Amino acid sequence: MLATERQSLRQEIAELAEKYEHKRDGMMPMLETIQEKYRCVSDFAMQEVARQLGVFPTEVYGVVSFYSFLSTETKGKFVIRLCRTLSCDFSGKREVAQQLENELGIKFGETTKDRLFSLEYCNCLGMCDNGPALLVNNDVYTRVHPELVSDILEKYRRMFGPASQLEEVEVHHG
Ligand code: FES
Repeated sequence: MLATERQSLRQEIAELAEKYEHKRDGMMPMLETIQEKYRCVSDFAMQEVARQLGVFPTEVYGVVSFYSFLSTETKGKFVIRLCRTLSCDFSGKREVAQQLENELGIKFGETTKDRLFSLEYCNCLGMCDNGPALLVNNDVYTRVHPELVSDILEKYRRMFGPASQLEEVEVHHG
């Protein structure tokens, strides 16, 4: 990270800390804001958050490593989280996982080279009667089957493309 980037990140974190009155309760929203903007929480960012809140860096590391939506490695613009819990497992999660890996050319836990998609497993999303269920960032998809995977991916590829390509793709939400 360049010195100027560090300086600007330090400034952003200082402003966030100000917003949350340097209180420990502000740690989670601060980390979420950083994750959303930079798609990861770097070592430097964790140290700065700790410094601004007056806590030990290990406390911030602990929070980042505990929550799956926070990451020290840069994730894709769209993070796909496929439920791996029992009901979804029985209703065809494996076939959906295989199709996602085939279409994206990556394994779970990886990010595509263009940094558009990351693949992850998650635990129950509370949609057990309508599995397999997955999230793409905050969008929920239920009763997903392998034939639907390419439509879902295409929708997000188009979202990221030029404005002229911004047209809705029919995707079933279960
Ligand atoms: S088991 Fe997958 S949503 Fe509950």
